Amino acid sequence: MSRKRNFTKRQLRDALGMFATGVTIVTSRTREGELLGITANSFNAVSLDPPMVLFSLSREAHSLNKFESCDFFAVNILSDDQRELSNRFARTSLDKWKGVSYETGVTQCPLFPGSLAMFECYTRFHYDGGDHVIFVGEAFNMEVGTPAAPLLYYQGGYRLLMPDATDAEWA
Ligand SMILES: Cc1cc2nc3c(=O)[nH]c(=O)nc-3n(C[C@H](O)[C@H](O)[C@H](O)COP(=O)(O)O)c2cc1C
Repeated sequence: MSRKRNFTKRQLRDALGMFATGVTIVTSRTREGELLGITANSFNAVSLDPPMVLFSLSREAHSLNKFESCDFFAVNILSDDQRELSNRFARTSLDKWKGVSYETGVTQCPLFPGSLAMFECYTRFHYDGGDHVIFVGEAFNMEVGTPAAPLLYYQGGYRLLMPDATDAEWA
């Protein structure tokens, strides 16, 4: 059977965009004390026991080498109120952190108040993921925020969760 692809890169992007996700900001702090942060929707759960999660970071990201050198990372699951923060950390910029308020976790990674949940992890594995590097971490510190509408991402844009009228908890 031929393994010739039947799609272009553009078509692949669009098809993958059919997968609705939440949005996170993954943060870290280098040994020199530099703060790192990137918006990522590639976050996913891997294992409950031990508690493991993953995200993938583009090889083109400026912070890739720095993230790889860190022993820890933190994942902030964003609420709909944090769109601005999401936009800010989705750009390569020297002053991403200017004027941003954050708390410091036990790992010294920045945590954003108002996030739906925050996980602090130590990095267990880095895997080759083609044009991305897959980071797998084991979570050991977790905080759950006040319930709020999650920030969602679908087909290249932010979306709001539409409550299901038949769901008593949402109705
Ligand atoms: C909703 C959303 C999700 C994103 N998810 C990822 C992701 O999972 N992995 C990634 O490498 N970049 C992702 N990006 C792009 C990065 O946030 C962006 O390239 C980041 O600014 C890289 O920062 P740096 O170049 O300073 O390291 C996403 C952007 C948006 C808007």
